[in-house]
Formats: sequence, structure tokens, C-alpha cells
Amino acid sequence: MPKLTRRNLLLGGSAIIGVAALMSKPSDKSGPRDAYFLEVQTALLAAGIATPTLVIDRARLNANIDTLVGHLPEGMGYRIVAKSLPSLSLIDHIRKRAKTDRLMTFNLPMLSELSQMMPEANQLLGKPLPVRAAKTYFETLPADADGAEQRVQWLIDTTDRLAQYDDLAKTLGRSLRLNLELDVGLHRGGFEPGAELQAALEAIKASPNLEFSGYMGYEPHIPALPTTLGWRDKALKGAWKIYQAALEQATNTLGADAIANITRNAAGSPTYRYYEDTKIANEISAGSCLVKPTHFDSDLLEPHLPASFIATPVIKSLPTTRMPGLEFADGAKRAWDPNYNKTVFIYGGHWLADPVDPPGLSYNPTFGRSSNQEMLNGGPDLALDADEFVFLRPHQSEAVFLQFGDIAVYENGEIVDFWPVFDASA
Ligand SMILES: Cc1ncc(COP(=O)(O)O)c(C=O)c1O
Repeated sequence: MPKLTRRNLLLGGSAIIGVAALMSKPSDKSGPRDAYFLEVQTALLAAGIATPTLVIDRARLNANIDTLVGHLPEGMGYRIVAKSLPSLSLIDHIRKRAKTDRLMTFNLPMLSELSQMMPEANQLLGKPLPVRAAKTYFETLPADADGAEQRVQWLIDTTDRLAQYDDLAKTLGRSLRLNLELDVGLHRGGFEPGAELQAALEAIKASPNLEFSGYMGYEPHIPALPTTLGWRDKALKGAWKIYQAALEQATNTLGADAIANITRNAAGSPTYRYYEDTKIANEISAGSCLVKPTHFDSDLLEPHLPASFIATPVIKSLPTTRMPGLEFADGAKRAWDPNYNKTVFIYGGHWLADPVDPPGLSYNPTFGRSSNQEMLNGGPDLALDADEFVFLRPHQSEAVFLQFGDIAVYENGEIVDFWPVFDASA
């Protein structure tokens, strides 16, 4: 048996620390560029694009639309989440391919613009709007909007808001269609089956100006729950139980006929694939999964393809990474982390996005983020000249898509179209 001395213990301890440290030493992530992104780069250069640009791959978008539609059970409607696909042309493309007239809208400018540009569409508000915003909608809607306002379902989360909308309906001398938001477990507000829901249903029944148009129950928290001990399944069953109880309450209060054709909206991108029949919901809403930003990289959405990228030109490509005022440490940092070897400064930056091509690029937390020319570091195999493109994947679409002007539509090796985006105001 070896003799346990203080010296041996120290040596052994240092060896363990050394091995552990070596095991955590970053490996080189640089390498050849993805052929796909080289093709998109060629298309961008051929189109004369030289500024940060949001690119949508139309073939991938179409594949995602087909995946979604292909999953819908018989009788299940699809509602396009407009805020996650914030471009009229993009929504128009999806409407045609998915053959749907249903939109979910989240703010006054989008509601007004869609009412004018797609008056035949049926819009369900995805969040309750202050009654003053609803009033402004009616005051500003042009007379030739082809009755678009009759196809709007206003989302209501409390009996107080319901009373405000009832007053608005009286003032306007028109009837309003109200959809009641259900809290099916997300706890972002809305009704649960019980006394307040009862009061809401009765208030609608009593009002000559209000019509009950349905329910909306959104449950994106479910796939984020652990599967351990059936936790996730329980949450899903719990959500459906709440929905079912709310439907029964509506039937008992308003009668089966009154609820036979209501909108029973549920889901979002993270959860639409849970719905395999129409027992609870008769339509699902989803948007993000059609362009698949990184926040939607989940097991359930595996069949969907990333279809949107930020492409931005390299302004400066430098063979070594140097930190201002810390140059003495650069060599040691490079020796430790090969991904710190080289530097590019890109046109713009500081977006909610992760670099994806060339491989191995990362932000430099010491240098910091920049919206003007952002530093990215890469490994020894990074080969990128000024004016070539770096590609990033957005984390989400709703805000990021609005930061680049018209979306460049890529298909079969070419930029084939440009799709204007909505105004960034909400
Ligand atoms: C009420 C509601 N339904 C559905 C969605 C789903 O949108 P997406 O598919 O883009 O995640 C959202 C997103 O915020 C929402 O708030």
C-alpha cells in the first residue's frame, strides 16, 4: 500500500486538478463552411445585398407549413400567429399555402393594418387590448374595410374588462364578439372555471350588444416541465380538464346551440403537436415554428427546419484576437481556447441571435456587444474575408424580424423576392 505523505497527497491533488482542467479546455470548433450557407451567400452577393438582412428560405418555410398542416387532425383549424410572422407578404404566403383565413393578432397597428389589407380574414386577439385601443380601432378604421371589424374576436380576461367592452359596444351602437381567455395553467391571467367565469358568461348573455365567440387557452409552459414522475403529462391533462370544464360551463349557461360553432383556440408552436383530435380545441394557433428561431429547438418541433437567418457582411477580418489594454494575456488566452484565435467585426450586431456559420464563431464577453460593429471570435480554421457574410439564427422572430427592413426571400440559389415587414410600433 503506498505511503500517504503530505507530499504525495499534494501531488495527487494537483494531478486531479490538472486532468480536470484539461478536460474542460475548450476544443477547436472552427472548420469548413456549410455548403448551404455558401449558396445563400452567393445569392446575397448576386442580389447586390451588402447590409444586415433577414433572410427567409422559402423552400424550408413551405416544408414547415406542410409539416404543420399535415399534422392537423380532421376538422382542426389553423390560426396564423401574426406577431411571430410580422410581414403582410409572409402572412399572405402562409395563408395561401395553408388555406386558412384565421389570424391571431396582438396589437392595434397590426390589427388595423390586417383589417384593411386582409379584410376577409378572421382575427382573434392574442392578448386583451385596453378598451381605449379597441375604440381607436373603430374610430380609425376606413369605411371601405369590407366589414373586417365584424370578423374580429376581442379577447377578454376579466369581468371588469368585459363591462368596459359592453359600454364600448353600447357607445358604438354595434355588437362585439368576445372570446374569453382561459387560464389553463400558464397563470398569465384569464378565467378559470368557477364564479368569475360564470359572471362573465351571464354578462354576455344579458347584453344585447355582446356575443360569445369562444375560448382561448394557451399552454406553452407544458413542454418546459420535466417528464419526471409524469409531471408534464399531468399538466397537459390538467389543462384539458380546465378547458373541458369551461366548455361545460358555457353549455350550461348559454345552451348547446350557442356554443356549437364557437372558436375553441389552443396551443402555440411549442404545443400544437399535442393536439391529435378536436375533443377540446377546434383550432390551433402557431407562428414561430414556420421560421423556427432557436427558442423553438425542441423535441416536439424536430420535424421543423430553421428557415430564417440574419446575414451580415464582415467589415474587418483580423488574423489574431487582441484585447484593448490586455494584450499581455492574449497569447495565454489563445493557447487555452483555440476559438479565441481570430476576429471578425461584423456590420451591425447585438441582435437576439446566435452565430451559426462559419462554424465556431462566438461573442467576446470581455470586448462586449456592439450594435455598430460587433466582435466575433473564431478558431484557426476560420477563413472569412471582408464583405463575405456571417449567418446568425434569431432566438425569436417577433422583434428580430422587424430590425432589418424588407425580408430577403431565398429560394433555389437566388434571392427571389423582398417582403416588407410591419411597422415596429406596437
Ligand atoms: C395566445 C398565444 N397563442 C399562441 C401563441 C404562439 O405563437 P408562436 O407559435 O409564435 O409561439 C402565442 C405566442 O405568444 C400566444 O401568446
